[in-house]
Amino acid sequence: MQIKSLDEYNAVYKQSVEQPEEFWAGIADHFLWRKKWDKVLSWDFKEPNIKWFEGAKLNITENCLDRHLEENGDKPAIIWEPNDPEKDTITLSYKILHEHVCRFANVLKKNGVKKGDRICIYMPMVPELAIAVLACARIGAVHSVIFGGFSARAIADRINDAECKLVITADGAYRGNKQIQLKDVIDDALIGCPTVKKVVVLTNTRTPISMIKGRDVWWEDELKLVGSECPAEEMDAEDMLFILYTSGSTGKPKGVVHTIGGYMVYTGYTFANAFNYQPGEVFFCTADIGWITGHSYIVYGPLSQGATSLMFEGIPTYPDASRFWQIVEKHKVNILYTAPTAIRSLMSFGTEPIKGHDLSSLRVLGSVGEPINEEAWHWYDEEIGKGNSPIVDTWWQTETGGLMISPIAYVTPTKPSYATLPLPGVQPVLVDEEGREILGNGVSGNLCMKFPWPGILRTTYGDHERCRQTYFSTYPNLYFTGDGCLRDEDGYYKITGRVDDVINVSGHRIGTAEVENAINMHTGVVESAVVGYPHDVKGQGIYAFVIYPNTHGDVELTKMDILKTVTRVIGAIAKPDKILFVTGLPKTRSGKIMRRILRKIAEGETTNLGDTTTLTDPAVVDEILAALQKV
Ligand code: WT7
Repeated sequence: MQIKSLDEYNAVYKQSVEQPEEFWAGIADHFLWRKKWDKVLSWDFKEPNIKWFEGAKLNITENCLDRHLEENGDKPAIIWEPNDPEKDTITLSYKILHEHVCRFANVLKKNGVKKGDRICIYMPMVPELAIAVLACARIGAVHSVIFGGFSARAIADRINDAECKLVITADGAYRGNKQIQLKDVIDDALIGCPTVKKVVVLTNTRTPISMIKGRDVWWEDELKLVGSECPAEEMDAEDMLFILYTSGSTGKPKGVVHTIGGYMVYTGYTFANAFNYQPGEVFFCTADIGWITGHSYIVYGPLSQGATSLMFEGIPTYPDASRFWQIVEKHKVNILYTAPTAIRSLMSFGTEPIKGHDLSSLRVLGSVGEPINEEAWHWYDEEIGKGNSPIVDTWWQTETGGLMISPIAYVTPTKPSYATLPLPGVQPVLVDEEGREILGNGVSGNLCMKFPWPGILRTTYGDHERCRQTYFSTYPNLYFTGDGCLRDEDGYYKITGRVDDVINVSGHRIGTAEVENAINMHTGVVESAVVGYPHDVKGQGIYAFVIYPNTHGDVELTKMDILKTVTRVIGAIAKPDKILFVTGLPKTRSGKIMRRILRKIAEGETTNLGDTTTLTDPAVVDEILAALQKV
C-alpha cells in the first residue's frame, strides 16, 4: 500500500484517476472485511449521493484492534503523555486497548446503547477518550465528540441536533495550569436536552461534582459490572461511524457525517503514505480528538495500520515552551504532526527551549489546519527537523475525512508554504467565479474536487439539503471546498485561505455569523459584524465591530461583558481578539454588510478602502475610522 518512489507516485496517481474503482478496491483489499463489497462506488454530486464499498460488512474496531492481536498484541497502540510531566506515562498495548474497548462497550450496552444510537463524548485528552470512541464503534453506536472548549449552550445544540441518548464525560480536565470543570458544563447543557437518559462520568481531576441518581453513573463503578468479551457488531460499509460538528458561513454548526468503510480505507491509506510510517515508529499528532485531525490521525488512521500513536493531554507551553521537545526526546518520536499556530507560538520563544533536547529520532514533520507561512516552515525545517526531515504540509478538511493535498514523505517533493500535490484518488480543479474550470499552471481560483474519494462526507446530520447547498450547489457537479488556491508553474498547489465567511483561528474553524449571533445576544447590542484579520501566532484573529449605543460604565468593562456572553454562547475559542464600538456598519443598499471594507480596516488599512460609493451611507466609514482613532 505504501508508495516508494516518485515514479511510482506518478503511475499510481494516473491509475487512481483512470480506474478509480480498481484502484480503491486494491487499497481496500488491505483491510479486514467480514464480507467484501458488491460495488466499489456509486455517486452523483447533484443529490449528493455517494456510496463506497456498498454491500460490504465490517467493523472498524476489528481493523484497528483485533487484527493486530495475534502478531502485535504487545506492541504499544497508544502512549499517553500527561499534562503534568511529573505524572506517569501510560502505555496501552493493542491487547490491553482491545480489552478496555470491549469492556467499555459492554458498559454502553448495559446502559441501553444500541446500534445506531448517537453518543455525545465530552472528555479530556486521556486514554479513556480514545477508548470511548472505539467502544461506540465496536457496538455500532455513532459518536459525536465535542471539543472540551465548547460551552454548555453549544453542547446542548449539538446534543439536540443529533438526539444523543447518552453522554460520556469526566469530572474535569487539566490544560496547562488550568482545570476545566467538564461535568459542570455538561450539567448545564443537559437542562435543555430531553433525549439524554444517561451520563457516564470518568474520574480524572477528582473535583467535587453533582451526580444525579438514575441518570449519572461513574465509569469506574460500571466497569466492575461487566465482562471483557464484546463481539464486534457487524456493520454495513455505509453505516454511520460518527458525526463531527463544524462551522460554516451560517450561524448554526453542521454535523458532518462520515461512514465506516470509506473513512477507514481513506484514513488508513493516507496515514501510511503521507507520513511514510514504518513499523515500530512512534507517531505524535498534537491535535485534540475533539477535532477531525484527532479522529483521523490519533485514533482511526494509525490504529488501522497497527501504528503506535502518542496522545498528549497538555499544551505546548506547559510547564514551559520545551514541552514538545521533551516529549519527542522521552518517547523517541519519529513523526511529529502539529499545527502552524503551535509552531509560530514556539518560535516566539526562540531556540533556547530546544537546546539540550535530542530530536534525532524525528524523521518526518507534518503541518495541518491553516496555511503555514514561509518563516514558520523554515524554522520547523531547520530548528526541529535539522534540515533532514521532510515537512508534509497536509491540506484537508473535516468534510474530507483525511488528507487530500500533501507531499508524501520521502516520495514527492516539498515546497515551503505549499501543500504541493494531490494524493492518489484526489482530483482537484480550480474554478473561476462562474464555475468555469481554470486549466493550465500558474493560475489561481476556487478549489473544488471533481471526483469522490472514500473519505468524503456523506451528508450533514438531519439536513441533507444543507449538505447539498453548502458543498455541491455553488458549482454544478463539483465539491466546493470553500478555499482559494494557487497552482504554480510546476503544478503545485498552495492554499491561500477561505473565500467564505469562515475564520481560521489557530487552526479552528469559526463562522463569522456564529460569533455575530453570540455578540448580538448581549443586551444593548444593536448589531455587529465580525471579520478575520492577520494574527502573528493564531494565523487569524477575530475582529468585531459592534453597535452598542449605551455602554454600561467603563467601555473596557462593556467589552469584557461581551466576551463573557460569547464564551457562554459558543465557548472561549470564539472570543473576539478586538472589539471596536461603532455607530454604524457599512451596508449596501440591499442591506448587506460590506465586509471587504471592514476586513481592510481590521488589517490596519485606513486609506485604500476601495469603492465605497455603493454604500447607503458612505459617511459610516469615516465614523468607524474616527472611532478607531480614539482608541
Ligand atoms: C480548513 C478546514 C484538516 C484538519 C484541521 C482543520 C484550512 C487545513 C490546511 C493546510 C492551508 C489549511 C483550510 C480548510 N486548512 N489544512 N495544510 N494549508 N489551509 O479542519 O476545521 O475542517 O478546517 O482549514 O481553509 O478549508 P477544519
